[in-house]
Amino acid sequence: MEAKEKKKTGGLAGVVAGRSAICTVGTGHGLNYRGYDIYDLAKNATFEEVSYLLTKGALPTQSELEIYKKELIQARALPDALKVVLRTLPKNAHPMDIMRTGCSTLGCLEPEADNFSDQGAKITRLMGIFPSILLYWHHYHVNGKEIDTNSSQDTIGGYFLEKLHNKQPSELWIKAMHVSLILYAEHEFNASTFVARIGASTLSDIYSAITAAIGVLRGPLHGGANEAAMELISEYKSVHEATRGIYEKLENKAKIMGFGHRVYVSNDPRNIVIKEWSRKLADDVGNSTIFPISEIIEKIMWDEKKLFPNLDFYSASTYHFMGIPTAYFTPIFVMSRTAGWAAHVVEQRGDNKLIRPNSEYIGPENRAYVDIKNR
Ligand code: COA
Repeated sequence: MEAKEKKKTGGLAGVVAGRSAICTVGTGHGLNYRGYDIYDLAKNATFEEVSYLLTKGALPTQSELEIYKKELIQARALPDALKVVLRTLPKNAHPMDIMRTGCSTLGCLEPEADNFSDQGAKITRLMGIFPSILLYWHHYHVNGKEIDTNSSQDTIGGYFLEKLHNKQPSELWIKAMHVSLILYAEHEFNASTFVARIGASTLSDIYSAITAAIGVLRGPLHGGANEAAMELISEYKSVHEATRGIYEKLENKAKIMGFGHRVYVSNDPRNIVIKEWSRKLADDVGNSTIFPISEIIEKIMWDEKKLFPNLDFYSASTYHFMGIPTAYFTPIFVMSRTAGWAAHVVEQRGDNKLIRPNSEYIGPENRAYVDIKNR
């Protein structure tokens, strides 16, 4: 494709590929889930309310939320056969591969009904079990211990932190998890969601759609950017080092992970919220270097390239301050985005048409077949 043409249409930029009632990106404050402003949700709601909103279509009443939370807690349990798989997977595997394999394995053990009549239960099961999958594998390989899934925490974020650190998390950290999971939960036709919809459009099962979406999220141009951003920030010990280092990278035309966006043009509305949480947690844990290093990178990227941090950039330090290993950042994204993926699978199934576009052929034509001995 000509460079100019690629810029205009490459990567399906600007192409409207379907209709959806789940999310708008780029209107109002910039992001709305089913008509609710993301700022209102991040400020006032818990992640469980938002995942209910996305997957079931409306905010829950108090009693609906209580029932839903109980179902999510029940859904944390790991089948024995899945535990065997998690113990067998290598210690040095990427945690996103653990999430992908865990999802696929559960699909073998507890398949969805052919008529999808149990899709709601399968969605809740996946939302509940993902933290257990990651942390069972983690503790088995890092500490040589098998964890159980009992917990006094009744939210996904609280459960994740408690199981990771083996101690009760503070209310501040639980709130930070709610906010970050809410911000990550849904984002219209991003790459992984589009893949989940394609999966649903073939009438495949929900585990296949979500397993494929996890594989797509893993890449550093998409969800893997939060891990890559932390690796970048960790290269520097001071603002001075970061300044030198980022200018050097820009001179070498390197991509700076956690910056830029396909849809937003001047800022990512989610960044304003998560940046404040990063600042708050830096104070909470008494870290005085990482936040200023992040801010100087942000300033240089704006001054030099007019590029702004996306959600991944300050999510990285927010998670880091809570003692979460860098390789687990994108799996947390999975725990949240499953709500969005699932909402899209359900919507696609509700009015399905196979997603199958065309390509423009640009290869050679009219070639005569050459016998193998003459090639
Ligand atoms: N660092 C440095 N340069 C960047 C950049 C970044 N993070 N993001 C975009 N650019 C530059 C590109 O090099 C390109 O420059 P050029 O026109 O001189 O070739 C220009 O900005 C357009 O970028 P492009 O990658 O073509 O835009 P896109 O719409 O295809 O990409 C992203 C969007 C998100 C893939 C891109 O901004 C990126 O790779 N960001 C880093 C990864 C990331 O944070 N992903 C998470 C997204 S939420």
